[in-house]
Amino acid sequence: MKDFADRVAFITGGASGAGFGQAVVFGQAGARVAIADVRADALDEAVGQLRDRGIDAYGVQLDITDRAAYARAVDDVEAHFSAPVTLLFNTAGVNGFGSVEQMTGDDFDWILDVDLGGVINGMLTVVPRMIAAGHGGHVVSVASMGGFVGGRMTGPYSAAKAAVISLMESYAEVLPTHDIGVTVLCPANIRSNIAESHQTRQAPAETGIMTNEEFVGALREVYSHGIEPIELAEHLKRGVEAGDLYVIPYPEVRDDLERIFQRRLDAVLAPDDRALAGMAEREAALEAFRATARERAARAQTADA
Ligand code: NAI
Repeated sequence: MKDFADRVAFITGGASGAGFGQAVVFGQAGARVAIADVRADALDEAVGQLRDRGIDAYGVQLDITDRAAYARAVDDVEAHFSAPVTLLFNTAGVNGFGSVEQMTGDDFDWILDVDLGGVINGMLTVVPRMIAAGHGGHVVSVASMGGFVGGRMTGPYSAAKAAVISLMESYAEVLPTHDIGVTVLCPANIRSNIAESHQTRQAPAETGIMTNEEFVGALREVYSHGIEPIELAEHLKRGVEAGDLYVIPYPEVRDDLERIFQRRLDAVLAPDDRALAGMAEREAALEAFRATARERAARAQTADA
């Protein structure tokens, strides 16, 4: 997609960080921008800042884990702009660090509900409307480099982001037939407020997530060295324009990705004679299965005729 003029964009997590950067960049490219966020105060401020930049912006308070509320929020946005949403950005997300064996069920539920459940709710709510509207469109989900590899301190987060990557690959197989593009953005580090994620969470009875001020302060320091959200969104826009499935605008992660994928490639059985013999049997069995399926399909066709 190259022309964003007048399209309605629905950006979750748009009150801060990566989502706000997307609102600026796609808004300045002519899109009408709805930002959805769980934090009402941050939302009002962000809408004000977008309007100050001349962007046609609208804010809706939404907890993306609530599927019914998600549908109401999109209804509200479509009524406001008198047009269907044809750009979806699944950007809202939370993170919490703690040693994986100390994470509680509540910790897993919180991160998976927002980071994976919220994306699923976005796709379930918006994609059928986009298809029905028939104007094409584009969906973006923000995963993470953490979705390519697990880490001692990032168990639920990495699991959720890995699932988001996989989910977008599935949608990318079908949505282009409806003229809807699919992109998954995998950032490494963003200058954002994600170190404060735990503040959007109901205080859990038990948690393995570290929220003491010293640790959160160190996290803030790390994120302060991240890419600027507007710059990240500009990379994303180029990816959307090019129809790219993956956008990973961090040259420094190449070595890590090579190591991650090499480990998987190394696990593929070497094609020695024994393996080849086993493969030949499996392939013969598969071919026999396919031949039976073809015969059945042919018989069914003859019966229909
Ligand atoms: P951020 O904290 O600055 O922005 C996230 C926004 O999502 C906040 O405004 C927050 O209120 C909102 N939000 C949280 N839970 C919500 C819910 N249940 N419903 C609606 N809104 C909710 O963080 P950032 O970094 O901009 O995060 C955006 C995305 O980027 C997330 O998916 C995150 O996982 C991802 N990411 C961030 C990285 C980083 O270094 N900050 C690195 C890789 C990925």
